[in-house]
Amino acid sequence: MRKPFIAGNWKMNMTHIEAIQFFDDFKFNYENKNNCEVAFCPPFTAIRSVGTVIEGDKIDIKLGAQNMYFEESGAYTGEVSPIMLKALNVEYVILGHSERREIFNEKDEDINKKIKAAFNNELKPILCVGEQLEIRESGKAEDYVLGQLDNCLKDIEEKNIGLLTIAYEPIWAIGTGKTATSDDANNMCKAIRKKLANLYNEDVAEKVRIQYGGSVKPHNITELMAKSDIDGALVGGASLKADDFLAIINY
Ligand code: 13P
Repeated sequence: MRKPFIAGNWKMNMTHIEAIQFFDDFKFNYENKNNCEVAFCPPFTAIRSVGTVIEGDKIDIKLGAQNMYFEESGAYTGEVSPIMLKALNVEYVILGHSERREIFNEKDEDINKKIKAAFNNELKPILCVGEQLEIRESGKAEDYVLGQLDNCLKDIEEKNIGLLTIAYEPIWAIGTGKTATSDDANNMCKAIRKKLANLYNEDVAEKVRIQYGGSVKPHNITELMAKSDIDGALVGGASLKADDFLAIINY
């Protein structure tokens, strides 16, 4: 049985002060009826503050980051290393988000290096994959997403794969209010799991959690989570509002 995993990706929102204020509200109403694993991925500048709040108040929430560089230290102005994240008790790191691919030109090869660096430093990657609208409309979405997996997982050892989360985020559904239908999302998640079984084996494929991301809201989470191969959600906009995120966790 895969434990449901709901993660909030705050993107470039929330100063560390706003983050602390968010938790003042969130922690009093925190409830987790479905016993999900819950994580927040704040921007780098708020990670320490969020970590201090969740440790201090003993809230059962995991810390994640939204990106990192693949080198451990050195002359890489502006970058943040896996060692730095680990020192802040970060457990998860989102890698290959479509905004990083599209705006910052990250390639599958870079993401592959980052996944290796995450595992070398005992961080658990949340690997994002997903197609553009033109690709979906041309009927080639599955080939495209499975190709991303081939490249991003190149030479990743089987012993680590059970610690990987994959987030299927169709780019046309991010921040647009358009969600993939739950059947389309589930079909892609199934195809991803089958690919993992081909690349590794059935046992490992059954362990990996696959999230859906793209306009997840309180009104659509229940239907998504009822699907066979959707094990959680990577939530953008709705994770910035305590009430909405709580409703999503307690779908
Ligand atoms: P929205 O939930 O705002 O569509 O963002 C999804 C996303 O990109 C999460 O990583």
